[in-house]
Amino acid sequence: MNAIPSIKLIDGKATAKRVLAEVGEQVQALRQAGVQPALAVVLVGCDAASQVYVRNKVLRAEEVGIRSLEHRLPGDTSQAHLLALIERLNRDREINGILVQLPLPGHIDEHRVLQTIDPLKDVDGFHSANVGGLAQGRDVLTPCTPSGCMRLLRDACGELRGKHAVVVGRSNIVGKPMAALLLQADCTVTMVHSRSHDLPALCRQADIVVAAVGKPGLIGADWLKPGAVVIDVGINRIEEAGQSRLVGDVDLAAALTQVAAITPVPGGVGPMTIAYLMKNTLLALDLQQQAAHQERTSCLSPC
Ligand code: GUN
Repeated sequence: MNAIPSIKLIDGKATAKRVLAEVGEQVQALRQAGVQPALAVVLVGCDAASQVYVRNKVLRAEEVGIRSLEHRLPGDTSQAHLLALIERLNRDREINGILVQLPLPGHIDEHRVLQTIDPLKDVDGFHSANVGGLAQGRDVLTPCTPSGCMRLLRDACGELRGKHAVVVGRSNIVGKPMAALLLQADCTVTMVHSRSHDLPALCRQADIVVAAVGKPGLIGADWLKPGAVVIDVGINRIEEAGQSRLVGDVDLAAALTQVAAITPVPGGVGPMTIAYLMKNTLLALDLQQQAAHQERTSCLSPC
């Protein structure tokens, strides 16, 4: 087999390393000024993939100097108990970020849980106040995976203004916020999904394709315009010749014949999600400091 031209592969691992190094420097400066950023991660139940994600988030936080607090709760934890924990974390001035790992067990109302997190501590950017703020183009906490994808796209494409981006998949975690961020960057955005007519033809119009559907190898070379830049958010485990491996939503080998650049799976988008979680924790701290300052100055000003 011919070697893959590495110039076409977008190295998410290397970019994530750079982002984490920047975060580490900022944390050091904060600590020298007597401020210790902290992230609380909540996991309910023992879903194997979620356990791995949470462990990696906690490890990465410690590596960059962010204090991390892990709350592991049994799968039969009541919703009331989980909400009480979140309210306690909301009130705790020493906690800057709160992340509740999804999915939650079926008896817990996910929307209610996410709405309970203080929007200024919502490092996932899933609270309606942050979702709405993003739609309005305000400076709010935005979901980590799409934020990481934007960084990879800016590095790969340079100017994004006027480019036609097609987002495949309409999830709340990736597809919808990704479309909003691309729009904010002045792209022309098309969202397509399982009910769209002629997906390949729609994708072939794109300068940028973001694939986030969870279907292994769905997007082949004939879906892509020559010279397109492709961000593959899919992480799918497949069994092949008795071996298990991770693949994306894009058929990487086929796509490489067409594209200008593409993220591989693994090693593309995955590492960026955690790097942007760390960045969001510092942004959350900054937003909390701004809010506290505003509160102090509004108390001082005569009305
Ligand atoms: N489960 C899968 N992806 C995510 C994510 O980005 N945040 C949280 N909280 N849970 C997830």
